[in-house]
This record gives sequence, C-alpha cells and structure tokens, in this order.
Amino acid sequence: MIRKYTFGTPFSTDAVVLALPAETGPVPFFTLSRKGSQVILTRKLQPEDCLYGLGESVRGINKRGFLYRSWNSDVFNHTESTESLYASHNLLIFSGPDCLFGIYADDPGRITWDLGYTRSDTAVITSENGQLDLYVLEEDSLTELARSFRRLTGRSYLPPRWAFGYIQSRWGYASESEVRTVAGEHRKRGIPLDGICLDIDYMDDFKNFTWRMDAFPDLKQFSADMKKDHIRLVPIIDAGIRAEEGYAPYDSGKAGGFFCKKEDGSDFTAAVWPGICCFPDFLQEDARRWFGSLYLPLLESGVEGFWNDMNEPALFYTDERVEAAFRRAEELHSGGADYEAMWGLKDAFNSIANNPEDYRSFFHEPDGVPVRHDRVHNLYGAFMTRASAEAFRRFDPEKRFLLFSRSSFIGAHRNGGIWQGDNFSWWSHLKMALQMLPNLNLCGFLYSGCDLGGFGCNVTEDLLARFLQLGVFTPLMRNHSALHTREQEIYRFESWEQMRDTVRVRYALLPFLYSEFMKAALTDGMYFRPLAFDWPDDPRAVHTEDQILLGEGCMIAPVMEQNAVGRHVYLPEEMLMIRFRSPEDYDLVPLPAGDHWISFSLHEFPLFVKKDHPVLLCPGGECSELLDDRTFTALCMTDRGVSYDLYRDNGTDPDPVLEEHLTTAVIPASALRSSPVPGVAISSLVL
Ligand code: GLC
Repeated sequence: MIRKYTFGTPFSTDAVVLALPAETGPVPFFTLSRKGSQVILTRKLQPEDCLYGLGESVRGINKRGFLYRSWNSDVFNHTESTESLYASHNLLIFSGPDCLFGIYADDPGRITWDLGYTRSDTAVITSENGQLDLYVLEEDSLTELARSFRRLTGRSYLPPRWAFGYIQSRWGYASESEVRTVAGEHRKRGIPLDGICLDIDYMDDFKNFTWRMDAFPDLKQFSADMKKDHIRLVPIIDAGIRAEEGYAPYDSGKAGGFFCKKEDGSDFTAAVWPGICCFPDFLQEDARRWFGSLYLPLLESGVEGFWNDMNEPALFYTDERVEAAFRRAEELHSGGADYEAMWGLKDAFNSIANNPEDYRSFFHEPDGVPVRHDRVHNLYGAFMTRASAEAFRRFDPEKRFLLFSRSSFIGAHRNGGIWQGDNFSWWSHLKMALQMLPNLNLCGFLYSGCDLGGFGCNVTEDLLARFLQLGVFTPLMRNHSALHTREQEIYRFESWEQMRDTVRVRYALLPFLYSEFMKAALTDGMYFRPLAFDWPDDPRAVHTEDQILLGEGCMIAPVMEQNAVGRHVYLPEEMLMIRFRSPEDYDLVPLPAGDHWISFSLHEFPLFVKKDHPVLLCPGGECSELLDDRTFTALCMTDRGVSYDLYRDNGTDPDPVLEEHLTTAVIPASALRSSPVPGVAISSLVL
C-alpha cells in the first residue's frame, strides 16, 4: 500500500510514475511539526530498529546512528564523516519488531536525516523547502517494500549487455595512440576488455562536444577500429558549457536562452574544467532537447556509451566568491589580522568552491516561472541524465545505450546508471562501496559500481586486487584513476596474471550475472540486497554489514583489509562456497550454517551460493560479444535435480519481455552421482 501526503506546492521532480491522490489525514508513523518553512517528521526508534535506504551515502548498510544531508555535492575528498555525497536518494525504510514501512520524500531541496544522531532513540527528518510529496509505503516484507517503491518510481535502467564487460578508464589518456596502446596491452595479455573511457583529455580545451584534433584526429575511424576489436569508447560529458563566443554549443545555448540565469537576467557563470561556464537549464524541456542534440555527432561517430560528470553541478568558483575572499584579505591586510580573523580568511578561500550562496544566486525556468536553484538543487544531475537518455531514444529507439552519471536523484534510475563518485585508493572506500550497493539498489540504481582501485591517491597492488574481486560482481566494472596518481591498469603490476584471472572470472560468470541483473530489473527486484531481506528473523544476518546478497541465490563477502589472508563469514543457512582463483581453478566447499573463518590468499575470492541455486560458468573470452553463452558448467549444492532459468537476449533490446528470453537449464540428479564433491552437482550443459 502506498499513501501520498502533500505539503505546500511541491516541485514536479519526475521521480514518481504512479499518479496517486493525496491523503487528507495525518501522516502515519510520525509526529509532524513545522518551523518556519521547514516540515519536520519525528519518530521514536526502538533499540532493534534498522534503517535502510538513502542510496548513495556514507557509512553502513543500516543507516542508523548518523546525520545525512540530501544535497548533491562534489566531494572528492569524502570520508565517513561526510554528510552529503554526489547524489540524493530520499527513500528510507524502517524495519524492526514493531514496524515495517518506508517513506519517500519527493523533494529536490535540502533534507536532513538525523537518524539517531542527536538522540540515539529518535529519527528526525527535516525538509528545508517544506514543499514536498511524502509517500508512505507499507508491505509485508522488505523485499515487497523495495518492489513497491519501484512500482512507484518506475523500472530501472537497462544497460546494453556489453556494459557488463570490463571497462578501463583513466583521467590522463591524452591521445588516440595512448588509448590504442592501453587496448593493445589488454588484448596482448588476454585481459578481457569491453570498453575504454575517454576522460576530459579527449576534448579540445575540456570543452564538451569537441575533440582535440591533434590527439584524436578521427573519432569515427578510431571508434570503428576499436569496435572491430570489440572495444567501445565511452566519452565523458560534463554539465558546464564554456562561455565563449564562437564555440557552437555556447552560441546555440545562448541563442535559445537555455542557460540558468541570475536574478538580473544575465547568464549565471562559474568555473569548472573548461574555465568559465554557463549551465544548461536541464529543467526546461527545450533546453534538454537542445543539449541532447549536441550528443548527435558523437553518436553518429559510432559512440554507444557516455558518462555524465560534474553535474551536481560542481562549481569551482564564481567571480563573486573570489572577489569576496580577496576583499576580506585586503580588509585584514590593511586593518591588521588577529588570530580569529585569520581563520575567517582561511574559510573564505576554502569555501570558494560549491558555495551555498552561489547555489542561491541562479534560477531555472521550467515553465516560464523562475525557480531558485537551491530549491531544486538535487535534480540537476538527474535532469542532465534525462536529457541524454531522451536524445539516445530519439537517435535510436531500437537500442540500449550505456549511460552512467555522477550526480543523481530518484527518477534518474530509469534513464541511466551511476558510479559512486570520486573515491580514494583506501581500504575504507572499498568497504564503503560494498555497503552502498544494496542501498543504491533499493533506490532503483541497479547498474552501478565504484572506481575500482580507487580514483584519488596511489593504489597498492593488493588493494587493486581486492577492489577487482568486488568488481567481478558489480554491474559496472570499471577501473578508473585520477591524473597524476600511480598508473592503475592491471598490466602495470607484478601479479597482473592473477588479476587478469579475476577479470576472466567475471567473463565466465557474465551470462549468469547478466541474467540475474535482468531478472531483477524486469521484475522490479534487487540485484544486491542486505542479508536482512532474506533472513529478517535472524539477528546475526540482520546486523551483517560486510556481506551482501546477489541475485536470487548468491552472496558475496569480499576481503576488505590489507594483509588479510582470510576473513570471517557468517552463513545464515548452509551454502556452497566457490573460492575462485580463475575460471578454471576454484574450490567447491559446502559449508554448514554458522560462523566460519575462511582463508583467501590475495588472489582468491568467494561466491557463496544457497542450496538448490545453480551458478552457471561459461568458457569465458576476451570480450562480452564473443562469449559462448550456450556452453556452461553448472555448479549447485543440492540433493536432487534442479533447474535455472537463464535470461538471454540480444543485449540491446530496449523493452525486452522477461518470459520471452528465458531458457531453462536442467541439472539432473545424476550429476550428483558422478561429482567428486559430495552434495555438489557439477554438470556440463549446452543450451
Ligand atoms: C571528476 C570525475 C572523475 C574525472 C575527473 C576529470 O573528478 O568524478 O571521474 O576523472 O572529474 O574529468
């Protein structure tokens, strides 16, 4: 059951697809109060209550015990105390002995989620706008709550099948020949690869929709050559358009009146990578159409995938903020600076980027009526994604394109995936990535993943190995790193062969993982979920923070500590452990329910599988297009014959019907008799 409560006149966010009438009674489960324009919801928490949701946010799977803010932020240097990340996903589920419900705050402005932070027994949710649609969802189980939320907000984005391949990326690939070398190194060494991202280096002076003719002279030819080798180029597009007369996207945007404006009617400008930029008003339909049309030359050059970036939007500085900081410095210089004033001066410079005053200083005009940006701030990235997705659908309605964005809001999950932003090469960020995944899925973002190896600072070889072992299972499997950091391609490292074998495991599992993903997406289910979803009555499972469920019957438990040679794993029920070293080299270990300490040397990693749930391994290959997805080895802990419905389609159909693409794989009971591992059926299948 979903009920809607409306406060004031909410901005239409495009997040919800189900039209519901607003209720008139009081909001259940909460005490409602108001302070100025704020709407405040308060609820007492019982000691056992767990909270899930808030998609992209720091800390645990259970969100209880911290304060989070919905405010999309460019936070390169985030840690566990960062209150806002790049996206805002305002779904929160309360689950405890006396409660099971979810709320979705459809409000694109700033929201504070004090979830047992100020008082450990109280949740306080504050909408600054005070104008919102609040949805209250009630179902009998966590899984049904998740499904009901997807019914409210629409089906998750379906990427093309090739987007489940390994993608190599780095800020700093400065020429076509460098990219060809990277591709060649992967092919030469048998490291599977399906895509290479082009970062801002491919652009002329970092200007969107241009490319550097000296370094990337013929994008069409380049893209065609790479595609012949089954590698897709995935260029980046940033939100800002450089304010420069004679630069076509600026001229056409200006002529159309498509940029966000200040109060005096002039275009709002701020610096990002290309220098001083204007910002497309993605909330205007015409502006979206115009911006989307700018992708056309790239699409015509054969590009089938993009990543949208800097779309919080990130503002490095505005003239106003720089001047204010200088003014302050001059005042202090002439007046004599005391200790306190020096701190103020430091703050004035430190807060030049992404300054709240700047976000209050410009306007959108969705329907001819100006809306101040801060009231709708969290929509910006989502509507950029919408502009791109709408353009791709216009360009080729018969095809799925790869699209993932840094910033997002619920609703964008229908149009694209996301990556988890600029992480660091830290063990703590490996854990943060794992813990974020089920909550992202809950909010509809099934196609996601983090920068494997870490984006900022220098990776260590063991950390890259462990990141890749998580990446084997994340739908987006991309190795990405920042300019000037240690080179992070697998082949740079001594143990590249073992890391190659980790990626090869991904390819052996790819048809199976794709099948699990598509089944989840097409039934409004989850690809990743917390253990609490399957074992709500097992307190150990409910409070497990370092293992997550994958698809119908699997669980992952990566090693996330340096120098660890194994880890503890809790099994709520008996499971089969597949301990991988390569697609050909793995252990099959049936394990009883309970606590286990299991050894995993640096290049070993597990997949745990519930009884009677088969896993299918194909022979693998160097790219997704050439995989043999007819010949499988099926592995299953069972005491009978079992079957698995494998989802297979052409990988590009934009509107597939689940039932039309299922093939049943039958693993006969006889496979048990001949198996060298008692209780585990091993069966060769040709489907
Ligand atoms: C931002 C992106 C990062 C990219 C960089 C340069 O920091 O998040 O992925 O490499 O900009 O474009």
